[in-house]
Amino acid sequence: MASKNMEDLVSLCKRRGFIFQSSEIYGGLQGIYDYGPLGVELKNNLKSSWWKSMIYDRDDVEGLDASILTSRHVLKYSGHEDTFSDPLVDCRNCKNRFRSDQATDGKCPACGSSDLTKPRPFNLMFKTTVGPVDDGSNYAYLRPETAQQIFTNFKNILDSTSKTIPFGIAQIGKAFRNEVTPGKFIFRVREFEQMELEFFVEPGKDDEWHKYWVDKRYSWWIDQGISEKRLKKLDVEDADLSHYSKATVDLMYEFPHGLEELEGIANRTDFDLGSHTKNQNDFKISADVMKNNQSTTKLSIQNLESKEWYIPYVIEPSAGVDRGIFALLNEAYKEEDLENGNKRIVLSLKPHLSPIKAAVIPLKRNNEDLVNKASKIKNDLQTLGMGRVILENSGNIGKGYRRHDEIGTPICITVDFETIENDTVTIRDRDTMSQKRVSTHDLELEYKKIFN
Ligand code: GAP
Repeated sequence: MASKNMEDLVSLCKRRGFIFQSSEIYGGLQGIYDYGPLGVELKNNLKSSWWKSMIYDRDDVEGLDASILTSRHVLKYSGHEDTFSDPLVDCRNCKNRFRSDQATDGKCPACGSSDLTKPRPFNLMFKTTVGPVDDGSNYAYLRPETAQQIFTNFKNILDSTSKTIPFGIAQIGKAFRNEVTPGKFIFRVREFEQMELEFFVEPGKDDEWHKYWVDKRYSWWIDQGISEKRLKKLDVEDADLSHYSKATVDLMYEFPHGLEELEGIANRTDFDLGSHTKNQNDFKISADVMKNNQSTTKLSIQNLESKEWYIPYVIEPSAGVDRGIFALLNEAYKEEDLENGNKRIVLSLKPHLSPIKAAVIPLKRNNEDLVNKASKIKNDLQTLGMGRVILENSGNIGKGYRRHDEIGTPICITVDFETIENDTVTIRDRDTMSQKRVSTHDLELEYKKIFN
């Protein structure tokens, strides 16, 4: 069972240190969030899982970590300066501003008035000055998607890695959008992270690769713990396609507030590489690309048999890290009635995503022998490199179990007086709450088992 409502999740996230409102002590900054001690672990684990599946598990994808500040020329020729906007409407009655699609039946969503301005485009990119002179011409943008710097580095990566088509470039990083109406917790925010792959293929083979990546990405989310009944594929209607896309399939997740996009998989054709290419007229570019650009480079590839140069097509799976975290928390959150009449909250995260992999708890916090033994076990497990293991020295076993159920720790290892006598510990399983005694010599094996 997923979470009952948004409030349950938001409250858990704050109470246990997953996610906080940014600049909270000054009243908060709308649409911006900070990830706390557990949030950063969860986020890193999700990103590592994506990186592993995209790069380490394959041989046809290379990684990149490009700059966030992006030349305005890049975002001019990518089409973002002209088209990356939302239609903005003002209510003359209550002075609220919102996206025009939020005005149901032409009425203001805040006060219900019909006295609205006509929609006008509002560009979502954040602009900033580069260098000390602010005369209006020295500006750059905070990137609105990580993709563009993948395209501008296409030739660098091709030349430095000798890759041949089909191949991809993957990147994880921050993106910024000045959303008109941020909201729904971390669903629509102004600063977020994306995990994006640009996979370059021969024109003509793009449709089959598009299908391949839709299926691949769908199963990856299922492997992270998303249930099939809450994850749908949606063919985006032609009228709703982004300016660069020939076809897009969205993976839609049933968030607490409704079915919404978690990831988009687009066929971007040769639009971007074509737009950033010098002398576009040398190529048969099928997309409606901009002319006369100032790029110095041809972002093209040579067919080794025919020797002809062509601009590859690109398939782009683009996932939001924050939306992924939201979906996974929603999926994992459970409230259970216990036999003794109490309730427990448990986060059934897959162990590879759990912020803490194991908590080692000494029965008594002031007993030096127990604490030293627990500390040694913690250090031994930590060296196995599966993620964070902690010494939970709160002195209250029941409280320790409850806390670790709530934050999704797969196992708690209790060190008691029997441990000192015969070198055995208790392992408590988060999901079943069952306990078993094992020798400390078998602990490494038992610990590794949780990740299988
Ligand atoms: N490079 C393609 C691209 O950026 P997009 O559909 O605009 O496509 C891709 O964004 C993903 O980024 C979305 O599926 C979503 O998960 C995430 N995303 C986009 N805007 C977001 C926002 N304002 N807040 C949080 N995540 C966002």
